Amino acid sequence: MVKFNNLNAQWLEIKDEAIPEIEELFKTSQFILGPQVERFEESFAEFCSCDYGIGVSNGTDAIKIAAKALDLGDAPGIFMPANTFVATWLAVREAYPNSQITMVDIDRYGQIDTKKLERNIINYRDSGGRDCLVVAVHMYGCCDAIDETSRIANNYNYRDGLHRCAVLEDASQAHGAKSPKGTLAGSVGEISAFSLYPGKNLGAAGDAGIITTNCENLAGKCRLLRNYGSKQKYVHEEIGYNHRLDSIQAIILYWKLQRLAVWNKSRSLVADKIKLEVVNNRVGWMLTDNPLQVYHILPFLLKDFKNRNAFIDHLTDNSVEYGIHYPIPIHKMPFYQKVESDLVQTEECSERMVSLPIHPFLSDVEILQIAKAINTFGD
Ligand SMILES: Cc1ncc(COP(=O)(O)O)c(C=O)c1O
Repeated sequence: MVKFNNLNAQWLEIKDEAIPEIEELFKTSQFILGPQVERFEESFAEFCSCDYGIGVSNGTDAIKIAAKALDLGDAPGIFMPANTFVATWLAVREAYPNSQITMVDIDRYGQIDTKKLERNIINYRDSGGRDCLVVAVHMYGCCDAIDETSRIANNYNYRDGLHRCAVLEDASQAHGAKSPKGTLAGSVGEISAFSLYPGKNLGAAGDAGIITTNCENLAGKCRLLRNYGSKQKYVHEEIGYNHRLDSIQAIILYWKLQRLAVWNKSRSLVADKIKLEVVNNRVGWMLTDNPLQVYHILPFLLKDFKNRNAFIDHLTDNSVEYGIHYPIPIHKMPFYQKVESDLVQTEECSERMVSLPIHPFLSDVEILQIAKAINTFGD
């Protein structure tokens, strides 16, 4: 079976460095927010060209804390792509339960449609809206929309001294990605959140997450919120959470971070090889030609979508694991209260999208097996 991911291979690469530090950790037993957390926070912030990194419990909590730290009042307008993992929506909803969240449709690469984003923000302002938050989600390892998203937010932000538009990057699928202009994921939003879930490009051995920012105040606020609203033991300045990063995860993440650039490069080479071998014209790659993306997954749209079930059965018969990101869009989930009519591309993506293994340890034999499985579909 060609596995969707190979986390054991990552461990084999780092274990000689990680194991002695883990043994040492058990001697000191400072299991939560120890010096290893600070070392990882500093290294990751540097990796993102940011001044501050704040390690947290997972990506969902990173988004929630980052959104709360922005302190946008009771009910700012919130805009996010409709094609994202449900956690993005859940997190901002928890941060701003009284807000209206506008889901924006996507382009053919699964990224937010920035023209629709701009139209939505202008409508919001014209109908009397004031402060707002754009959650810029970099889907599938690609942050190509971030420059245009920043321009839209800057156009709105404080031009008249009244309207604020903050950008929170959800870079959970894009550690190390750059836009075609060279903008690094997690470096330009006022604040950014990363999941460090095991299957991410940079993943822990369990749940973990991190926030990055260049703003000292925001960093301080996030540190408070992740630790029961407290800087000093038993002194609580505000309502916070227990959303801290474990020292053991920080050790593993630090050593994986040293290899992340190489692993991201391998993903890109694997993507090139698979694309070269696949000749089935039913496959429409959801990939821009930006070589600086980091290929969190290898997504495509199946042109004849009525056959997706047959197609994935065919992959299974040919011993190739696959993913679907995501089969049910958020606006079709039972707790979603509105009826949405304008999310046509998102719905089409949920019906036609498939993703293939793209991890850095795929062998050439496995790459050919993947390509063959796709090329023989429909014979
Ligand atoms: C885009 C996106 N946002 C948020 C999350 C949530 O992260 P976590 O699972 O670490 O809470 C994930 C991944 O799971 C994700 O892919």
